[in-house]
Amino acid sequence: MALAVTVALALLAALAPGQDALLNVCLDAKHHKREPGPEGRLYGQCSPWKDNACCTANTSAEAHRDRSLLYNFNWRHCGAMPAKCQRHFIQDSCLYECSPNLGPWIEQVGSSWRRERIRNVPLCREDCERWWQDCGGARTCKENWHQGWNWATGTNRCPWGSMCRPFWQVFPRPQDLCEKIWSGSFSYSPERRGSGRCIQMWFDPARGNPNAAVARFYAGRKRDPPARGEDGAPGSNTAPPARGSHPGSGQALRAGPC
Ligand SMILES: *[C@@H]1O[C@H](CO)[C@@H](O)[C@H](O)[C@H]1NC(C)=O
Repeated sequence: MALAVTVALALLAALAPGQDALLNVCLDAKHHKREPGPEGRLYGQCSPWKDNACCTANTSAEAHRDRSLLYNFNWRHCGAMPAKCQRHFIQDSCLYECSPNLGPWIEQVGSSWRRERIRNVPLCREDCERWWQDCGGARTCKENWHQGWNWATGTNRCPWGSMCRPFWQVFPRPQDLCEKIWSGSFSYSPERRGSGRCIQMWFDPARGNPNAAVARFYAGRKRDPPARGEDGAPGSNTAPPARGSHPGSGQALRAGPC
């Protein structure tokens, strides 16, 4: 009996190649640990990941600095960024650096500073909308923050000829902000927080990390894509992220989270 179960489990494992490789993993990028694990001293907004994280305590603290050593990225390229806006960018950095649940959306890239990136992580609509609302009054000169900056001084400055404008002009809808700012790292999910079908940038660790179940769901779906029309749930076409060419993944990606 025990042998039969063992054989059955081995068969199942063989039939599901790669699924586990998508779960509980860290990106192969600039600051990530090789494997996720407990990090008791994660700082501030990154602390929800402390039970199981891909970031170190140092990375979590750096993520909160105005011009952090992580990417040398300057949030103040068009004047000070309001704190209520900046906290979303900090949370975004925490998710990117600390989350062990982004496996289904990892893509290989041939960039000079990282081997992998994330693409089309389905961000819960409320998290995206709140980010957009709180940043409406901030200013920027660029829609895609991954590339095209003037790095002549060692930090990013607005490229010659670009103008600082309010976020709401550069990103007319929440979707524009979440999807374009990191060149497709996020997709705007129609799913809601708590649905188990979208990634939460913000969560209450007292109830565990809700993104673990979301990663399991999408990892399973990558293995067994639903037949067309099989489930009419909104967002059913968000799996699996397209591979292949993507603008800017190879060159000019000097820095920037996600
Ligand atoms: C993180 O580590 C670097 C290199 O050791 C150090 O320069 C930096 O001050 C540390 N950051 C924080 C916030 O402790």
